[in-house]
Amino acid sequence: MATTRTFKVWRGDAKGGEFQRFEIEVDEGMVVLDVLHRIQARQANDLALRWNCKAGKCGSCSMEINGKPRLACMTRMNSLPEGETITVQPLKTFPVMKDLVTDVSWNYEQNRRIPKFQPKPRDSDGAYRMYQEDVDRVQEFRKCIECYLCQDVCHVLRDRDGREQNSFVGPRFMIRLASLEMHPLDTADRIPAVRDEFGSGMCNITKCCTEVCPEHIHITDNGIIPLKERVVDRFYDPIAMLMRKIFG
Ligand code: SF4
Ligand code: SF4
Ligand code: FES
Repeated sequence: MATTRTFKVWRGDAKGGEFQRFEIEVDEGMVVLDVLHRIQARQANDLALRWNCKAGKCGSCSMEINGKPRLACMTRMNSLPEGETITVQPLKTFPVMKDLVTDVSWNYEQNRRIPKFQPKPRDSDGAYRMYQEDVDRVQEFRKCIECYLCQDVCHVLRDRDGREQNSFVGPRFMIRLASLEMHPLDTADRIPAVRDEFGSGMCNITKCCTEVCPEHIHITDNGIIPLKERVVDRFYDPIAMLMRKIFG
């Protein structure tokens, strides 16, 4: 059965903007992205929003719905309290381009800073061998769809101190670092850079990033904390420090 719902959608660009109100008919089974498309078709043909797969797999339709970073294509209308106005706005951490579309290119710059995968030589028979448990550990991180919801909610990036000075790459790229560092075939050593260039010390493990991840990646417990532990083992373990002093 169709009902009429009220939406408040942010309209504007880099110079500024405001919320626009829409009363719109919503059918059973719709997600927020469906409703935004209906608003686009019937009431605001120039409404800008980004989407691709409509299946929670491309990470394009990230936005803030009722103040929470979410995927519009995975947010069912019946999960939002009946009678309540639904507020839709662009990700707050990244600059607005138009309406619900933000410029997330900073994230691609962070990705380029990370030293790439450097595989060890193949075994004498030409094969690569890995233990299944090592494969399983990094497999979780490969589920990332680069929606940047975790980057959006991270207060270190939101407050700009991490982003403007490139001092913290953010949870998504801590996950990428973890996936490389824990990869059984990789030979590169990124631990000094994890501390000095990528800012592992700036994360205070509040776990907000983990809470919003639509792929349910345990960003903090399985990615960031193990990276922090590797930094501590390398730089703050008293025995390792003594050995370095003696043997250089
Ligand atoms: S746990 Fe760390 S990376 Fe995640 S939101 Fe908090 S500060 Fe950011
Ligand atoms: S880690 Fe999760 S929240 Fe962050 S970009 Fe990947 S899928 Fe999105
Ligand atoms: S449209 Fe692809 S994740 Fe929503």
